[in-house]
Amino acid sequence: MCGIIAYNGSDNAVPYLVDGIKNLEYRGYDSAGCVLLDGSGNLLIRKSEGKVGDVIKNYAIDKYTSPKGIFHTRWATRGEVNTRNAHPISDCTGKIAVAHNGIIENYDEIKNSLSDHKFTTDTDTEIIAHFLEDRMNGGLTMKDAVAELAHEMKGYSSFVAIDRDSDDIVALKNGSPLVVGLASNGTFVASDVPSFIKYTNRVVYLFDGDVVSIGKSGYRIDNLSDSDKKHEVKTVKIKYDESTKGDFPHFMLKEIMEQPAVVGRIEESGIESIERAAELVKASGRVYLIGAGTSFNACMIAANLFRSLGMDATAIEGQNISNYAGVISDKDLFILISQSGETMDVIQALDLIKANKKIGILNVEGSTLSNSVDVVVYIGAGHENAVAATKTFTASVVYAMLIGMYAAGKVEEARNDLGLLKLALYNTLVPSVIGAVDATASLIKDKVNLFYLGRGADYVTALEGALKMKEVSYIHAEGIDSSTFKHGPLALISKDIYSIALVSDADRDAVMHNLSEIKARGGRIIGISNHNSELFDFYLKSQPAGIFDFVPKVVISQLLAYKVSVLKGINPDRPRNLAKAVTVK
Ligand code: AGP
Repeated sequence: MCGIIAYNGSDNAVPYLVDGIKNLEYRGYDSAGCVLLDGSGNLLIRKSEGKVGDVIKNYAIDKYTSPKGIFHTRWATRGEVNTRNAHPISDCTGKIAVAHNGIIENYDEIKNSLSDHKFTTDTDTEIIAHFLEDRMNGGLTMKDAVAELAHEMKGYSSFVAIDRDSDDIVALKNGSPLVVGLASNGTFVASDVPSFIKYTNRVVYLFDGDVVSIGKSGYRIDNLSDSDKKHEVKTVKIKYDESTKGDFPHFMLKEIMEQPAVVGRIEESGIESIERAAELVKASGRVYLIGAGTSFNACMIAANLFRSLGMDATAIEGQNISNYAGVISDKDLFILISQSGETMDVIQALDLIKANKKIGILNVEGSTLSNSVDVVVYIGAGHENAVAATKTFTASVVYAMLIGMYAAGKVEEARNDLGLLKLALYNTLVPSVIGAVDATASLIKDKVNLFYLGRGADYVTALEGALKMKEVSYIHAEGIDSSTFKHGPLALISKDIYSIALVSDADRDAVMHNLSEIKARGGRIIGISNHNSELFDFYLKSQPAGIFDFVPKVVISQLLAYKVSVLKGINPDRPRNLAKAVTVK
Protein backbone atom coordinates (compact mmCIF):
# COMPACT_ATOMS: atom_id res chain seq x y z
CA MET A 1 0.00 0.00 0.00
CA CYS A 2 0.98 3.65 -0.06
CA GLY A 3 4.49 4.53 1.09
CA ILE A 4 5.47 7.85 2.63
CA ILE A 5 8.84 9.35 3.46
CA ALA A 6 9.39 12.91 4.67
CA TYR A 7 12.61 14.60 5.74
CA ASN A 8 13.31 17.91 7.44
CA GLY A 9 16.85 18.77 8.52
CA SER A 10 20.06 20.61 7.86
CA ASP A 11 20.94 18.76 4.62
CA ASN A 12 19.43 18.76 1.16
CA ALA A 13 16.32 16.58 1.54
CA VAL A 14 16.34 15.24 -2.02
CA PRO A 15 18.89 12.37 -1.76
CA TYR A 16 17.22 11.08 1.41
CA LEU A 17 13.77 11.19 -0.16
CA VAL A 18 14.91 9.55 -3.41
CA ASP A 19 16.72 6.79 -1.57
CA GLY A 20 13.90 6.36 0.94
CA ILE A 21 11.12 6.07 -1.61
CA LYS A 22 13.07 3.43 -3.55
CA ASN A 23 13.17 1.39 -0.34
CA LEU A 24 9.40 1.74 -0.03
CA GLU A 25 8.67 0.44 -3.54
CA TYR A 26 8.28 -3.09 -2.13
CA ARG A 27 4.98 -2.04 -0.54
CA GLY A 28 3.31 -2.00 -3.99
CA TYR A 29 2.05 1.12 -5.81
CA ASP A 30 0.78 2.47 -9.09
CA SER A 31 1.93 6.11 -9.08
CA ALA A 32 4.49 8.22 -7.29
CA GLY A 33 5.32 11.83 -6.56
CA CYS A 34 7.13 14.28 -4.37
CA VAL A 35 6.84 17.78 -3.00
CA LEU A 36 9.92 19.94 -2.55
CA LEU A 37 10.56 23.66 -1.99
CA ASP A 38 11.90 25.62 -4.97
CA GLY A 39 14.46 28.42 -4.75
CA SER A 40 11.76 30.98 -3.85
CA GLY A 41 10.28 28.82 -1.11
CA ASN A 42 7.23 27.74 -3.13
CA LEU A 43 5.99 24.16 -3.15
CA LEU A 44 7.02 22.19 -6.20
CA ILE A 45 5.00 19.02 -6.85
CA ARG A 46 6.29 16.45 -9.32
CA LYS A 47 4.26 13.27 -9.78
CA SER A 48 2.96 10.77 -12.28
CA GLU A 49 1.43 7.37 -12.84
CA GLY A 50 4.04 4.60 -13.07
CA LYS A 51 7.33 3.79 -11.49
CA VAL A 52 9.35 5.77 -8.93
CA GLY A 53 12.40 5.50 -11.19
CA ASP A 54 10.50 7.16 -14.05
CA VAL A 55 9.28 10.03 -11.87
CA ILE A 56 12.84 10.62 -10.67
CA LYS A 57 14.28 10.40 -14.19
CA ASN A 58 11.58 12.27 -16.12
CA TYR A 59 11.54 15.21 -13.72
CA ALA A 60 15.30 15.01 -12.99
CA ILE A 61 14.42 15.02 -9.28
CA ASP A 62 18.00 14.36 -8.18
CA LYS A 63 19.04 17.72 -9.64
CA TYR A 64 16.90 19.64 -7.14
CA THR A 65 17.92 20.87 -3.74
CA SER A 66 15.31 21.41 -1.07
CA PRO A 67 15.55 21.90 2.68
CA LYS A 68 12.62 19.56 3.32
CA GLY A 69 10.13 17.46 1.40
CA ILE A 70 7.90 14.43 1.06
CA PHE A 71 7.96 11.52 -1.41
CA HIS A 72 4.97 9.18 -1.79
CA THR A 73 3.94 6.02 -3.61
CA ARG A 74 0.20 5.62 -4.18
CA TRP A 75 -1.78 2.37 -4.25
CA ALA A 76 -5.12 3.57 -5.56
CA THR A 77 -8.19 3.25 -3.35
CA ARG A 78 -10.50 6.13 -4.26
CA GLY A 79 -9.97 7.67 -7.72
CA GLU A 80 -8.45 5.89 -10.70
CA VAL A 81 -4.74 5.54 -11.32
CA ASN A 82 -3.56 8.69 -13.10
CA THR A 83 -1.18 11.59 -12.62
CA ARG A 84 -3.86 13.93 -11.29
CA ASN A 85 -4.77 11.52 -8.48
CA ALA A 86 -1.14 10.77 -7.59
CA HIS A 87 0.10 12.30 -4.33
CA PRO A 88 1.17 14.80 -3.04
CA ILE A 89 -2.10 16.69 -3.45
CA SER A 90 -2.41 20.39 -2.76
CA ASP A 91 -5.00 22.88 -1.53
CA CYS A 92 -6.58 25.65 -3.67
CA THR A 93 -3.51 27.89 -3.56
CA GLY A 94 -0.67 25.39 -3.77
CA LYS A 95 0.52 26.49 -0.34
CA ILE A 96 -0.14 23.13 1.35
CA ALA A 97 0.52 19.61 0.06
CA VAL A 98 -0.43 16.26 1.53
CA ALA A 99 0.63 12.61 1.12
CA HIS A 100 -1.77 10.06 2.58
CA ASN A 101 -2.16 6.35 3.33
CA GLY A 102 -5.65 5.08 4.20
CA ILE A 103 -9.30 5.73 3.47
CA ILE A 104 -11.39 8.62 4.79
CA GLU A 105 -14.80 7.04 5.25
CA ASN A 106 -16.78 10.26 5.81
CA TYR A 107 -15.16 11.89 2.79
CA ASP A 108 -18.47 13.22 1.36
CA GLU A 109 -19.51 14.84 4.62
CA ILE A 110 -16.18 16.67 5.04
CA LYS A 111 -16.05 17.63 1.37
CA ASN A 112 -19.55 19.15 1.62
CA SER A 113 -18.36 21.31 4.51
CA LEU A 114 -15.62 22.67 2.21
CA SER A 115 -17.92 23.71 -0.64
CA ASP A 116 -16.07 26.98 -1.32
CA HIS A 117 -12.88 25.05 -2.15
CA LYS A 118 -11.94 23.96 -5.65
CA PHE A 119 -11.33 20.19 -5.85
CA THR A 120 -9.21 18.94 -8.72
CA THR A 121 -8.75 15.21 -8.01
CA ASP A 122 -11.05 12.22 -7.41
CA THR A 123 -9.26 11.22 -4.20
CA ASP A 124 -10.41 11.35 -0.60
CA THR A 125 -6.94 12.68 0.23
CA GLU A 126 -7.74 16.06 -1.25
CA ILE A 127 -10.10 16.95 1.58
CA ILE A 128 -7.09 16.91 3.94
CA ALA A 129 -5.33 19.66 1.98
CA HIS A 130 -8.47 21.82 1.77
CA PHE A 131 -9.43 21.23 5.40
CA LEU A 132 -5.98 22.34 6.56
CA GLU A 133 -6.11 25.35 4.23
CA ASP A 134 -9.52 26.29 5.59
CA ARG A 135 -8.58 26.07 9.26
CA MET A 136 -5.17 27.71 8.78
CA ASN A 137 -6.86 30.60 6.96
CA GLY A 138 -9.00 30.83 10.10
CA GLY A 139 -5.87 31.26 12.23
CA LEU A 140 -4.98 27.74 13.37
CA THR A 141 -1.44 26.43 13.20
CA MET A 142 -0.97 23.43 10.92
CA LYS A 143 -0.60 21.19 13.95
CA ASP A 144 -3.88 22.36 15.45
CA ALA A 145 -5.61 22.06 12.09
CA VAL A 146 -4.35 18.47 11.79
CA ALA A 147 -5.61 17.74 15.30
CA GLU A 148 -9.05 19.13 14.47
CA LEU A 149 -9.21 17.07 11.28
CA ALA A 150 -8.18 13.94 13.20
CA HIS A 151 -11.29 14.36 15.38
CA GLU A 152 -13.55 14.80 12.34
CA MET A 153 -12.17 12.06 10.08
CA LYS A 154 -13.63 8.55 10.21
CA GLY A 155 -11.70 5.44 9.15
CA TYR A 156 -8.02 4.63 9.31
CA SER A 157 -5.78 7.25 7.72
CA SER A 158 -2.27 8.48 8.27
CA PHE A 159 -0.85 11.44 6.41
CA VAL A 160 2.02 13.90 6.20
CA ALA A 161 1.45 17.58 5.35
CA ILE A 162 3.80 20.35 4.31
CA ASP A 163 3.00 24.05 4.34
CA ARG A 164 5.05 26.57 2.37
CA ASP A 165 5.04 29.03 5.26
CA SER A 166 5.60 26.68 8.25
CA ASP A 167 8.96 25.42 9.39
CA ASP A 168 7.68 22.01 10.40
CA ILE A 169 6.29 19.08 8.46
CA VAL A 170 3.29 17.71 10.35
CA ALA A 171 2.02 14.12 10.33
CA LEU A 172 -0.91 12.24 11.79
CA LYS A 173 -0.71 8.51 12.56
CA ASN A 174 -4.10 6.87 12.63
CA GLY A 175 -4.23 3.19 11.66
CA SER A 176 -1.79 3.14 8.76
CA PRO A 177 1.88 2.86 9.73
CA LEU A 178 4.20 5.83 10.38
CA VAL A 179 7.46 5.90 12.30
CA VAL A 180 9.92 8.69 13.17
CA GLY A 181 13.66 8.34 12.42
CA LEU A 182 16.20 10.51 14.24
CA ALA A 183 19.39 11.17 12.27
CA SER A 184 22.20 13.52 13.31
CA ASN A 185 21.35 15.90 10.48
CA GLY A 186 17.58 15.73 10.41
CA THR A 187 14.36 13.90 11.17
CA PHE A 188 12.37 11.44 9.07
CA VAL A 189 8.77 10.42 9.27
CA ALA A 190 8.08 7.42 7.10
CA SER A 191 5.96 4.32 6.54
CA ASP A 192 8.67 2.00 7.79
CA VAL A 193 12.16 1.85 9.25
CA PRO A 194 14.00 0.26 6.26
CA SER A 195 13.24 3.38 4.22
CA PHE A 196 15.72 5.42 6.30
CA ILE A 197 17.80 2.70 8.02
CA LYS A 198 20.85 3.67 5.94
CA TYR A 199 20.89 7.01 7.78
CA THR A 200 19.77 6.14 11.30
CA ASN A 201 18.72 3.25 13.49
CA ARG A 202 17.24 5.53 16.19
CA VAL A 203 13.50 5.44 15.87
CA VAL A 204 10.34 6.46 17.68
CA TYR A 205 7.40 4.14 17.01
CA LEU A 206 4.13 6.04 16.86
CA PHE A 207 0.71 5.27 18.31
CA ASP A 208 -2.64 5.95 16.75
CA GLY A 209 -3.71 9.51 17.51
CA ASP A 210 -0.13 10.84 17.45
CA VAL A 211 0.39 14.22 15.78
CA VAL A 212 4.08 14.65 14.96
CA SER A 213 5.87 17.85 14.00
CA ILE A 214 9.32 17.40 12.52
CA GLY A 215 11.47 20.50 12.38
CA LYS A 216 15.01 21.27 11.26
CA SER A 217 16.51 20.18 14.53
CA GLY A 218 13.99 18.10 16.36
CA TYR A 219 10.52 16.72 16.70
CA ARG A 220 7.47 16.87 18.91
CA ILE A 221 4.76 14.26 19.37
CA ASP A 222 1.35 14.88 20.96
CA ASN A 223 -1.15 12.09 21.35
CA LEU A 224 -4.69 13.35 20.87
CA SER A 225 -6.36 10.97 23.29
CA ASP A 226 -3.65 10.38 25.89
CA SER A 227 -1.38 13.31 26.75
CA ASP A 228 0.76 11.06 29.01
CA LYS A 229 1.62 8.58 26.24
CA LYS A 230 5.33 7.71 26.39
CA HIS A 231 7.30 7.78 23.17
CA GLU A 232 10.63 6.07 23.68
CA VAL A 233 13.59 6.42 21.35
CA LYS A 234 14.62 2.89 20.38
CA THR A 235 17.70 1.61 18.62
CA VAL A 236 16.59 -0.96 16.06
CA LYS A 237 18.67 -3.95 15.00
CA ILE A 238 17.71 -3.97 11.29
CA LYS A 239 20.88 -3.95 9.20
CA TYR A 240 21.11 -1.93 6.02
CA ASP A 241 22.00 -5.03 3.98
CA GLU A 242 18.64 -6.58 4.94
CA SER A 243 17.11 -4.02 2.61
CA THR A 244 19.29 -5.05 -0.34
CA LYS A 245 19.22 -8.04 -2.69
CA GLY A 246 22.85 -8.94 -2.10
CA ASP A 247 23.98 -11.34 -4.85
CA PHE A 248 20.44 -12.51 -5.64
CA PRO A 249 18.56 -11.34 -8.74
CA HIS A 250 15.36 -10.83 -6.73
CA PHE A 251 14.34 -10.34 -3.11
CA MET A 252 11.88 -13.23 -3.39
CA LEU A 253 14.66 -15.69 -4.16
CA LYS A 254 16.88 -14.26 -1.43
CA GLU A 255 14.05 -14.58 1.07
CA ILE A 256 13.23 -18.16 0.03
CA MET A 257 16.88 -19.13 0.45
CA GLU A 258 17.07 -17.50 3.89
CA GLN A 259 14.54 -19.91 5.36
CA PRO A 260 16.93 -22.49 6.88
CA ALA A 261 18.69 -19.65 8.71
CA VAL A 262 15.38 -18.11 9.83
CA VAL A 263 14.33 -21.44 11.36
CA GLY A 264 17.77 -21.75 12.98
CA ARG A 265 17.25 -18.39 14.70
CA ILE A 266 14.06 -19.65 16.38
CA GLU A 267 16.11 -22.21 18.30
CA GLU A 268 18.68 -19.58 19.20
CA SER A 269 16.52 -16.69 20.32
CA GLY A 270 12.80 -17.36 20.03
CA ILE A 271 12.12 -19.84 22.82
CA GLU A 272 11.55 -17.31 25.62
CA SER A 273 8.72 -15.54 23.81
CA ILE A 274 7.21 -18.93 22.88
CA GLU A 275 7.18 -19.90 26.56
CA ARG A 276 5.45 -16.64 27.55
CA ALA A 277 2.82 -17.09 24.87
CA ALA A 278 2.28 -20.75 25.82
CA GLU A 279 1.52 -19.70 29.43
CA LEU A 280 -1.25 -17.47 28.11
CA VAL A 281 -2.64 -20.32 26.00
CA LYS A 282 -2.69 -22.61 29.05
CA ALA A 283 -4.62 -20.02 31.08
CA SER A 284 -7.27 -19.38 28.44
CA GLY A 285 -10.43 -20.98 27.09
CA ARG A 286 -10.96 -21.34 23.37
CA VAL A 287 -8.15 -20.13 21.06
CA TYR A 288 -8.88 -18.10 17.93
CA LEU A 289 -6.16 -17.54 15.35
CA ILE A 290 -6.68 -14.48 13.17
CA GLY A 291 -4.87 -13.55 9.96
CA ALA A 292 -5.21 -12.66 6.28
CA GLY A 293 -3.87 -14.21 3.08
CA THR A 294 -0.73 -16.24 3.69
CA SER A 295 -0.87 -15.45 7.40
CA PHE A 296 -4.39 -16.89 7.48
CA ASN A 297 -3.01 -20.07 5.93
CA ALA A 298 -0.51 -20.17 8.80
CA CYS A 299 -3.46 -19.74 11.21
CA MET A 300 -5.31 -22.69 9.67
CA ILE A 301 -2.32 -25.01 9.95
CA ALA A 302 -1.65 -23.98 13.55
CA ALA A 303 -5.35 -24.35 14.48
CA ASN A 304 -5.28 -27.93 13.10
CA LEU A 305 -2.31 -28.68 15.33
CA PHE A 306 -3.89 -27.06 18.41
CA ARG A 307 -7.01 -29.20 17.91
CA SER A 308 -4.91 -32.34 17.47
CA LEU A 309 -3.38 -31.52 20.86
CA GLY A 310 -6.82 -31.34 22.47
CA MET A 311 -7.24 -27.55 22.42
CA ASP A 312 -10.36 -25.89 21.06
CA ALA A 313 -8.96 -23.72 18.26
CA THR A 314 -10.48 -21.92 15.27
CA ALA A 315 -8.84 -19.95 12.47
CA ILE A 316 -10.71 -16.85 11.27
CA GLU A 317 -9.97 -14.31 8.57
CA GLY A 318 -9.91 -10.97 10.38
CA GLN A 319 -12.73 -9.43 8.36
CA ASN A 320 -15.05 -12.31 9.33
CA ILE A 321 -14.74 -12.02 13.08
CA SER A 322 -18.22 -10.54 13.47
CA ASN A 323 -19.63 -13.95 12.41
CA TYR A 324 -18.29 -15.26 15.72
CA ALA A 325 -19.49 -12.38 17.93
CA GLY A 326 -22.23 -14.53 19.48
CA VAL A 327 -19.84 -17.21 20.76
CA ILE A 328 -16.73 -15.30 21.85
CA SER A 329 -16.31 -15.18 25.63
CA ASP A 330 -13.93 -13.06 27.71
CA LYS A 331 -11.78 -16.11 28.56
CA ASP A 332 -11.03 -16.79 24.89
CA LEU A 333 -7.54 -16.05 23.64
CA PHE A 334 -6.73 -14.47 20.28
CA ILE A 335 -3.52 -15.15 18.39
CA LEU A 336 -3.04 -12.57 15.65
CA ILE A 337 -0.61 -13.56 12.91
CA SER A 338 0.62 -10.76 10.67
CA GLN A 339 4.01 -10.20 9.05
CA SER A 340 3.50 -6.46 8.76
CA GLY A 341 1.39 -5.97 11.87
CA GLU A 342 -0.53 -3.44 9.78
CA THR A 343 -3.13 -5.52 7.89
CA MET A 344 -6.42 -3.70 8.27
CA ASP A 345 -8.55 -6.86 8.01
CA VAL A 346 -6.76 -8.04 11.15
CA ILE A 347 -6.61 -4.69 12.93
CA GLN A 348 -10.36 -4.16 12.51
CA ALA A 349 -10.96 -7.39 14.45
CA LEU A 350 -9.52 -5.71 17.55
CA ASP A 351 -12.70 -3.68 18.09
CA LEU A 352 -14.63 -6.81 19.00
CA ILE A 353 -12.01 -8.38 21.26
CA LYS A 354 -10.98 -5.46 23.46
CA ALA A 355 -11.60 -7.48 26.65
CA ASN A 356 -9.73 -10.58 25.49
CA LYS A 357 -6.09 -11.52 25.97
CA LYS A 358 -4.14 -11.35 22.73
CA ILE A 359 -0.85 -12.68 21.38
CA GLY A 360 0.68 -11.11 18.26
CA ILE A 361 2.94 -13.23 16.04
CA LEU A 362 4.56 -10.43 14.06
CA ASN A 363 7.65 -9.62 12.03
CA VAL A 364 7.72 -5.81 12.03
CA GLU A 365 8.73 -4.24 15.32
CA GLY A 366 6.68 -1.32 16.55
CA SER A 367 3.83 -2.06 14.13
CA THR A 368 0.24 -1.16 14.99
CA LEU A 369 -0.59 -4.68 16.17
CA SER A 370 2.47 -4.78 18.42
CA ASN A 371 0.91 -1.97 20.44
CA SER A 372 -2.43 -3.75 20.73
CA VAL A 373 -1.60 -7.18 22.16
CA ASP A 374 -0.60 -8.57 25.57
CA VAL A 375 2.31 -10.71 24.38
CA VAL A 376 4.31 -9.98 21.24
CA VAL A 377 6.16 -12.85 19.62
CA TYR A 378 8.53 -11.43 17.01
CA ILE A 379 9.35 -14.03 14.41
CA GLY A 380 12.75 -12.47 13.67
CA ALA A 381 12.63 -13.29 9.96
CA GLY A 382 14.33 -10.01 9.04
CA HIS A 383 12.90 -7.46 6.62
CA GLU A 384 10.78 -9.16 3.95
CA ASN A 385 10.89 -7.02 0.84
CA ALA A 386 9.16 -9.11 -1.85
CA VAL A 387 5.39 -8.73 -1.89
CA ALA A 388 4.92 -12.50 -1.70
CA ALA A 389 5.38 -13.75 1.86
CA THR A 390 7.84 -16.64 1.97
CA LYS A 391 10.21 -16.70 4.94
CA THR A 392 7.63 -14.97 7.13
CA PHE A 393 5.06 -17.69 6.38
CA THR A 394 7.51 -20.33 7.54
CA ALA A 395 8.56 -18.42 10.63
CA SER A 396 4.97 -17.49 11.61
CA VAL A 397 3.55 -20.97 11.25
CA VAL A 398 6.48 -22.54 13.09
CA TYR A 399 6.19 -20.06 15.97
CA ALA A 400 2.43 -20.59 16.22
CA MET A 401 2.82 -24.37 16.25
CA LEU A 402 5.61 -24.23 18.83
CA ILE A 403 3.35 -22.17 21.11
CA GLY A 404 0.74 -24.93 20.84
CA MET A 405 3.27 -27.69 21.48
CA TYR A 406 4.73 -25.87 24.50
CA ALA A 407 1.24 -25.23 25.90
CA ALA A 408 0.51 -28.96 25.54
CA GLY A 409 3.73 -29.85 27.37
CA LYS A 410 5.33 -31.39 24.28
CA VAL A 411 8.52 -29.37 24.57
CA GLU A 412 11.01 -32.08 23.74
CA GLU A 413 9.15 -33.28 20.65
CA ALA A 414 8.76 -29.67 19.49
CA ARG A 415 12.48 -28.94 19.81
CA ASN A 416 13.41 -32.18 18.14
CA ASP A 417 11.17 -31.45 15.14
CA LEU A 418 12.46 -27.88 14.94
CA GLY A 419 15.96 -29.33 14.54
CA LEU A 420 14.64 -31.72 11.88
CA LEU A 421 13.03 -28.83 10.02
CA LYS A 422 16.24 -26.82 9.89
CA LEU A 423 18.05 -29.80 8.41
CA ALA A 424 15.18 -30.57 6.02
CA LEU A 425 15.24 -27.02 4.66
CA TYR A 426 19.00 -27.08 4.11
CA ASN A 427 18.57 -30.41 2.28
CA THR A 428 15.62 -29.17 0.24
CA LEU A 429 17.30 -26.05 -1.13
CA VAL A 430 20.05 -28.03 -2.90
CA PRO A 431 21.11 -27.86 -6.57
CA SER A 432 19.38 -31.14 -7.54
CA VAL A 433 15.98 -29.94 -6.27
CA ILE A 434 16.47 -26.41 -7.62
CA GLY A 435 17.35 -27.90 -11.05
CA ALA A 436 14.19 -30.07 -10.98
CA VAL A 437 12.11 -27.01 -10.04
CA ASP A 438 13.64 -25.11 -12.98
CA ALA A 439 12.66 -27.89 -15.40
CA THR A 440 9.14 -28.09 -13.94
CA ALA A 441 8.72 -24.32 -14.20
CA SER A 442 9.47 -24.51 -17.94
CA LEU A 443 6.74 -27.14 -18.32
CA ILE A 444 3.99 -25.12 -16.70
CA LYS A 445 4.90 -21.52 -17.47
CA ASP A 446 2.42 -21.21 -20.33
CA LYS A 447 -0.49 -22.91 -18.58
CA VAL A 448 -3.63 -20.93 -17.88
CA ASN A 449 -4.86 -23.09 -14.98
CA LEU A 450 -3.15 -25.20 -12.35
CA PHE A 451 -4.47 -27.25 -9.44
CA TYR A 452 -2.73 -27.72 -6.12
CA LEU A 453 -3.92 -30.79 -4.22
CA GLY A 454 -3.30 -31.99 -0.68
CA ARG A 455 -4.96 -33.34 2.44
CA GLY A 456 -4.69 -32.51 6.13
CA ALA A 457 -1.97 -29.88 6.71
CA ASP A 458 -1.12 -30.27 3.03
CA TYR A 459 -4.58 -29.07 2.04
CA VAL A 460 -3.54 -25.70 3.45
CA THR A 461 -0.12 -26.14 1.85
CA ALA A 462 -1.99 -26.53 -1.43
CA LEU A 463 -3.85 -23.27 -0.78
CA GLU A 464 -0.57 -21.53 -0.01
CA GLY A 465 1.19 -22.98 -3.07
CA ALA A 466 -1.67 -21.84 -5.30
CA LEU A 467 -1.74 -18.38 -3.70
CA LYS A 468 1.99 -17.93 -4.34
CA MET A 469 1.65 -19.07 -7.97
CA LYS A 470 -1.27 -16.67 -8.60
CA GLU A 471 0.51 -13.74 -7.00
CA VAL A 472 3.75 -13.86 -8.91
CA SER A 473 2.98 -15.72 -12.17
CA TYR A 474 -0.60 -14.55 -12.87
CA ILE A 475 -1.55 -18.17 -13.65
CA HIS A 476 -4.93 -19.12 -12.24
CA ALA A 477 -4.06 -21.70 -9.59
CA GLU A 478 -6.54 -23.34 -7.26
CA GLY A 479 -5.80 -25.20 -4.05
CA ILE A 480 -8.24 -28.04 -3.39
CA ASP A 481 -8.47 -30.90 -0.90
CA SER A 482 -7.55 -33.90 -3.02
CA SER A 483 -10.64 -35.75 -1.76
CA THR A 484 -12.94 -32.90 -2.73
CA PHE A 485 -11.68 -33.08 -6.30
CA LYS A 486 -14.04 -35.89 -7.26
CA HIS A 487 -17.02 -33.82 -6.05
CA GLY A 488 -16.80 -31.41 -8.98
CA PRO A 489 -13.38 -30.08 -10.01
CA LEU A 490 -12.50 -33.42 -11.63
CA ALA A 491 -14.71 -32.28 -14.54
CA LEU A 492 -11.94 -29.83 -15.43
CA ILE A 493 -9.34 -32.54 -15.92
CA SER A 494 -8.37 -33.46 -19.46
CA LYS A 495 -5.13 -34.35 -21.18
CA ASP A 496 -2.28 -31.99 -20.27
CA ILE A 497 -3.99 -30.30 -17.35
CA TYR A 498 -1.37 -30.11 -14.61
CA SER A 499 -2.02 -30.72 -10.93
CA ILE A 500 0.64 -30.17 -8.30
CA ALA A 501 0.20 -32.74 -5.55
CA LEU A 502 1.62 -32.12 -2.09
CA VAL A 503 1.83 -35.52 -0.50
CA SER A 504 2.88 -36.17 3.07
CA ASP A 505 3.52 -39.65 4.46
CA ALA A 506 0.55 -39.39 6.81
CA ASP A 507 -2.05 -39.02 4.05
CA ARG A 508 -0.16 -40.76 1.27
CA ASP A 509 -2.54 -43.66 0.54
CA ALA A 510 -5.66 -41.51 0.39
CA VAL A 511 -4.04 -38.83 -1.77
CA MET A 512 -2.59 -41.42 -4.15
CA HIS A 513 -6.05 -42.82 -4.64
CA ASN A 514 -7.31 -39.35 -5.63
CA LEU A 515 -4.34 -38.82 -7.93
CA SER A 516 -5.00 -42.08 -9.76
CA GLU A 517 -8.48 -40.73 -10.59
CA ILE A 518 -6.84 -37.75 -12.24
CA LYS A 519 -4.26 -39.88 -14.07
CA ALA A 520 -7.04 -42.13 -15.39
CA ARG A 521 -8.46 -39.09 -17.18
CA GLY A 522 -5.22 -37.99 -18.79
CA GLY A 523 -4.25 -35.37 -16.20
CA ARG A 524 -0.57 -34.78 -15.48
CA ILE A 525 0.82 -34.80 -11.96
CA ILE A 526 3.77 -32.96 -10.46
CA GLY A 527 4.45 -34.55 -7.09
CA ILE A 528 6.06 -32.69 -4.20
CA SER A 529 6.71 -35.37 -1.63
CA ASN A 530 9.36 -37.05 0.48
CA HIS A 531 9.02 -40.14 -1.78
CA ASN A 532 8.58 -40.60 -5.51
CA SER A 533 5.59 -42.45 -7.01
CA GLU A 534 4.75 -44.00 -10.36
CA LEU A 535 1.74 -41.65 -10.47
CA PHE A 536 4.01 -38.61 -10.65
CA ASP A 537 4.92 -37.40 -14.14
CA PHE A 538 7.45 -35.09 -12.51
CA TYR A 539 8.91 -35.31 -9.03
CA LEU A 540 10.23 -32.64 -6.68
CA LYS A 541 11.82 -34.15 -3.60
CA SER A 542 10.98 -32.72 -0.16
CA GLN A 543 12.50 -33.79 3.14
CA PRO A 544 10.86 -35.16 6.30
CA ALA A 545 10.45 -32.73 9.19
CA GLY A 546 8.16 -34.30 11.83
CA ILE A 547 5.23 -32.04 12.70
CA PHE A 548 6.67 -29.47 10.25
CA ASP A 549 6.68 -31.94 7.36
CA PHE A 550 4.57 -29.61 5.19
CA VAL A 551 7.10 -26.73 5.38
CA PRO A 552 9.71 -28.07 2.89
CA LYS A 553 6.82 -28.67 0.45
CA VAL A 554 5.70 -25.07 0.83
CA VAL A 555 9.26 -23.94 0.21
CA ILE A 556 9.40 -25.96 -3.03
CA SER A 557 6.09 -24.40 -4.15
CA GLN A 558 7.47 -20.94 -3.37
CA LEU A 559 10.49 -21.70 -5.52
CA LEU A 560 8.32 -23.05 -8.33
CA ALA A 561 6.15 -19.90 -8.32
CA TYR A 562 9.28 -17.75 -8.32
CA LYS A 563 10.84 -19.63 -11.26
CA VAL A 564 7.64 -19.46 -13.34
CA SER A 565 7.38 -15.73 -12.65
CA VAL A 566 10.93 -15.12 -13.86
CA LEU A 567 10.45 -17.31 -16.96
CA LYS A 568 7.38 -15.27 -17.83
CA GLY A 569 9.36 -12.04 -17.57
CA ILE A 570 7.43 -10.83 -14.52
CA ASN A 571 9.20 -9.11 -11.65
CA PRO A 572 8.31 -11.52 -8.82
CA ASP A 573 9.13 -8.89 -6.20
CA ARG A 574 6.50 -6.46 -7.45
CA PRO A 575 3.45 -8.30 -8.81
CA ARG A 576 0.87 -6.06 -10.44
CA ASN A 577 -1.99 -4.68 -8.33
CA LEU A 578 -0.63 -6.06 -5.06
CA ALA A 579 0.73 -4.40 -1.96
CA LYS A 580 2.99 -5.76 0.76
CA ALA A 581 1.04 -4.38 3.69
CA VAL A 582 -2.68 -4.19 3.00
CA THR A 583 -3.61 -1.25 5.19
CA VAL A 584 -7.17 -0.74 3.94
CA LYS A 585 -10.35 -2.74 4.56
C1 AGP B 1 1.30 -13.14 0.83
O1 AGP B 1 2.11 -13.65 -0.18
C2 AGP B 1 0.47 -12.06 0.47
N1 AGP B 1 1.16 -11.00 -0.16
C3 AGP B 1 -0.65 -11.66 1.41
O2 AGP B 1 -1.61 -12.67 1.33
C4 AGP B 1 -0.32 -11.40 2.90
O3 AGP B 1 0.07 -12.58 3.51
C5 AGP B 1 -1.55 -10.78 3.60
O4 AGP B 1 -1.85 -9.57 3.01
C6 AGP B 1 -1.35 -10.63 5.09
O5 AGP B 1 -0.25 -9.84 5.38
P1 AGP B 1 0.34 -9.73 6.85
O6 AGP B 1 0.96 -11.03 7.18
O7 AGP B 1 1.30 -8.60 6.79
O8 AGP B 1 -0.81 -9.45 7.78
